[in-house]
Amino acid sequence: MKTASQELAPIPLLDVAGGNQPQREEILAELAKVLDSGKFLYGPQVQQFESTMAERIGVKQAVGCASCSDALLLAMMACDVGPLDEVILPSFTFFATASAVVRLGAVPVFVDIIPGTFNIDPNQLESSITNRTRAIMPVHLFGQCAAMDEILDVADRRGIPVIEDAAQAIDAKWRGQVAGSMGRIGCFSFYPTKNLGGMGDGGLLSVDDEDVASRLRKLAAHGMQPRYHHSEIGINSRLDTFQAAVLGIKLRQLTHWVEQRRANAQQYTDLFREHGLDKSLGIPETTEHADHVWNQYTVRVSAGRRDALKAWLSDNKIGSEVYYPVPLHRQPCFEGRFRAEFPLLETERAAREVLSLPCFPELTVDEVRRVVECCRAFFASSAVAA
Ligand SMILES: Cc1ncc(COP(=O)(O)O)c(C=O)c1O
Repeated sequence: MKTASQELAPIPLLDVAGGNQPQREEILAELAKVLDSGKFLYGPQVQQFESTMAERIGVKQAVGCASCSDALLLAMMACDVGPLDEVILPSFTFFATASAVVRLGAVPVFVDIIPGTFNIDPNQLESSITNRTRAIMPVHLFGQCAAMDEILDVADRRGIPVIEDAAQAIDAKWRGQVAGSMGRIGCFSFYPTKNLGGMGDGGLLSVDDEDVASRLRKLAAHGMQPRYHHSEIGINSRLDTFQAAVLGIKLRQLTHWVEQRRANAQQYTDLFREHGLDKSLGIPETTEHADHVWNQYTVRVSAGRRDALKAWLSDNKIGSEVYYPVPLHRQPCFEGRFRAEFPLLETERAAREVLSLPCFPELTVDEVRRVVECCRAFFASSAVAA
């Protein structure tokens, strides 16, 4: 069944191309500079972007790399994670958080999430720790920092490094501290749909300790130092100069984009409440100490109606997505390769209930209204059907 909005223009979940249009000329000019320089790797734009990011995050060093998947891998290599070691992380996250652990021969130890924030439940950390635990890896999912006070408290008491997966959380804060500055190492993604998206893949590591930074640089360059001398086995992972050039320009808009995302999120929440829809769907919660950057605005829809709402929105030309439908402990490739001390019930429930709605910066007030109106029509029609 379709509503009257069928004739209106589509509202995509994301608008990557549209978001880049206002800076098109600036970006092209900078790309031309890189092209003419021939310095496609380790060009000056890389160093400049790294130092701007280090300052923004509030750490001494930022190290560019090819993706956040690589950043996570490198971070764990720098924490000496190896075969049969254990790393504690949520199961409700993107695949890369856990695949990096398994790639090193280590064992992911999954813990459940807090239902309101979708982030790791710190109460399950202590009893998940063993003498093989080499790192705790909270994910700041959807753009909101995990409960870092409790996480750091357990980690510090037990002498375990924290690696922050801040892929979705650039510029997010916890008690005023920027994501990626609280643990030993922070990992960022510039995948095109992230709040700061490149034009291809890109990643970054944030780190305060200069020795760890040097080790990360070395590990990202084949473990080579000096040239053609290898004291350890690294990987080849670089943020290339074209990406750094694009990111350096786009970074100038990030604060503004985050404000727009916040305004969209607030408008959704206000309108859902105004229409009483907060009784039909779960509105995302923000915790007191977190400055959310809304990489996703994710609602919950219970009792098997989530997929029907997604289809309804799609019929009305509105994009939405399920991040993530299958928790990592249910992925066939991880079968028999992880440990979990707890049943992960909230993780499984989230996978059944979540739906992310369009929240990109260029979304207009009218478009948010249309999405809410469409949700309202869905619940009204399913109430009639029931
Ligand atoms: C939470 C999380 N971790 C890691 C990654 C991996 O990032 P990349 O695509 O840059 O490798 C992503 C990307 O989607 C992510 O959302």
